[in-house]
Amino acid sequence: MMDNRINKHPVLSIDKKSKYVNFNFNGKKISAKKGEMISSALFANGIHVFGHHYKDNSPQGIYCANGQCSQCLVLANGIPVKSCIVPVKEGMDIRSLEGLPELLKDDEVVKTGGKTPLIKTEVLIVGGGPAGLSAAIELGLKNVKCIICDDKQDLGGKLSLQTHNFFGSIRDCFAGSRGMDIGCNLSSEVKKDKNLDIWVNSPVVGVFVDGLVGVLKDGRYVLVKPEIILITTGAREKTLAFPGCDLPGVYGAGAFQTLVNRDLIKPTEKLFIIGGGNVGIIAAYHALQAGIDVIGLVEALHECGGYKVHLDKIKRMGIPIYTSHTVLKAIGTDHLQRVIITEIDDKFKPIRGTEKIFDADTLLIAVGLSPVDELRKQAEKFGLKTYAAGDADIIAEASAAMFSGKITARKILIDMGFDVEIPPEWNELVEILRSRPGKTKKTKPIIPKNKVVYTITHCLQEIPCNPCTETCILQSIKIKEDSIMGTPVFEGECLACGRCISLCPGLAITLVDKRYDSSKKTARIMIPWEMPKNSIKINQNVYTTDIDGEVIGEGRIIGIKTSEWQNKRQLVSVEIPYNDTNKIVSIRIKKKSTEKIPKSDELLDDENIIICRCERVTKKEIIDYIKKTGTKDFNAVKAALRVGMGACGGKTCTDLIMRLFREAGVDIKDVEENVNRPFSQEIPIKAFLNEDDDK
Ligand code: FES
Repeated sequence: MMDNRINKHPVLSIDKKSKYVNFNFNGKKISAKKGEMISSALFANGIHVFGHHYKDNSPQGIYCANGQCSQCLVLANGIPVKSCIVPVKEGMDIRSLEGLPELLKDDEVVKTGGKTPLIKTEVLIVGGGPAGLSAAIELGLKNVKCIICDDKQDLGGKLSLQTHNFFGSIRDCFAGSRGMDIGCNLSSEVKKDKNLDIWVNSPVVGVFVDGLVGVLKDGRYVLVKPEIILITTGAREKTLAFPGCDLPGVYGAGAFQTLVNRDLIKPTEKLFIIGGGNVGIIAAYHALQAGIDVIGLVEALHECGGYKVHLDKIKRMGIPIYTSHTVLKAIGTDHLQRVIITEIDDKFKPIRGTEKIFDADTLLIAVGLSPVDELRKQAEKFGLKTYAAGDADIIAEASAAMFSGKITARKILIDMGFDVEIPPEWNELVEILRSRPGKTKKTKPIIPKNKVVYTITHCLQEIPCNPCTETCILQSIKIKEDSIMGTPVFEGECLACGRCISLCPGLAITLVDKRYDSSKKTARIMIPWEMPKNSIKINQNVYTTDIDGEVIGEGRIIGIKTSEWQNKRQLVSVEIPYNDTNKIVSIRIKKKSTEKIPKSDELLDDENIIICRCERVTKKEIIDYIKKTGTKDFNAVKAALRVGMGACGGKTCTDLIMRLFREAGVDIKDVEENVNRPFSQEIPIKAFLNEDDDK
């Protein structure tokens, strides 16, 4: 079996002392890291197809890697489980799920009895991500008793997948630090507070009319009676339906970050990405850091919606960006092999003759997020005292989620009668942190006159960010506008220390030193570099690029600084022609490919697009049914075609089906919504039994 583990990474530490366990997959002995999820262990061993669907024998693999969908089902010791949320154990017998699972032969009467534990608390926080942890810290300061439930093995939520430096305000929400480090800091602060009871591996599965909340606490069903519920469940990824979207190898950007950044697995060699928002762009950057070739990124709009500085980073690394394009088709037999993209017109319709075909083994879907809010809706419906913060309330960057957690905690404290207030500047800041990127300056960066040592800020778009201004010892970088949304400029003196370069989340600052060569033939430029250490070396000749990644010329690496305070970012000094100093923003080690992209003459065939993955129901079946019956009731479609009735409970297909109502000519406002199951996720019967055996 192959080993697809990442063994060098510029930011993540490789634990050389990891312990391994052995397990069997379809009768073959393979190994996994201790505590690793089954799906990750299979990927590490090069296994991407986990079984075949009972309905049409279609291959099944990973899709969300977050316990939300059901595409990664396998049999573990004879029991069907979502492989992305069940850890491998020594000697486990794992088999691919071929068709429907059989009932276990064991028909012994199980021991029942005992009562479901009932636990009271002042506040139940559902979700231990950025918002939940920030709220918990604030509540803990006032000695409020809280239980924090999270379905993962550890706290931190999506922060633990974010290896890049965060934007935002350096004083208020740790801007300039890496997301994973922020997650660790918040978690350890929460763990120190005795008022905060932490339940990991404990998904909240239902909220009921009597004010009780069901929790699957480490595999056992317990009930919690909170006075107040705070929903900080975050967001789940939106999905996109196109021909071949259900092939193994096509999955969410979050799943990719889980495999690469949490589990240090290299799941692909050739990656293509759909979506030019921050999530898609960051996924591309994370892929490069893991040594994965990114073939391209498509964005349906004329411009990518992610931060320009993020986008500039990947353009400079040579990733082709196809705006006004979409994916026409994903092609493969048992796994993705090729991706066909096409240009689209203003009405998002494919333009014939513009199709291009790429070899790729993985296609990421990064087309936005929607709040995980089922529990919130349930709680509000029953009139329970409920608050929500972070993405479960409003989708925004994690820095906004942290701050909204703090503010919501204050609201709860006021509700509980504490004498606290919410400073008005907090509300202002959270609105700023939630802002979409503002205007982009059309002018070039400002170059200081008559200076021989200076920095240039290549940060031209208004985004909420200020670490550069706070880190300069001489306070020479300033945001002139009265808000962190302004763009920074350099004015004054520069000590050439490189601190601003090592902290800027956008990797958008260069340091020019014209003293380097008195003959004025060459100068020195310092740039940030976050690719694997051995990707560059002293005396190496490299291409120099402008802000958009266009090659300007060549330079020679003359220094690589890797001090502790640089927080795993290398500061690379490059000798460059004297006259190029103000244009150069970065370096590239490989020249852009000039290979001609093959054209394709594939036609869009959207008849058989799978919409409901669990039940394998196509777009055509759903649209035909809505048109034929004239129904406006989601539940009627569900009863007739089984859409939304699969193991994921409709979490993956509900939004897509709502869109199909629109395509079939029904106004979304008139559609009777899908009735959710009382439990938001599946619970093994044994969880209710209060007995200790493992059946
Ligand atoms: S995709 Fe799971 S029920 Fe439709």
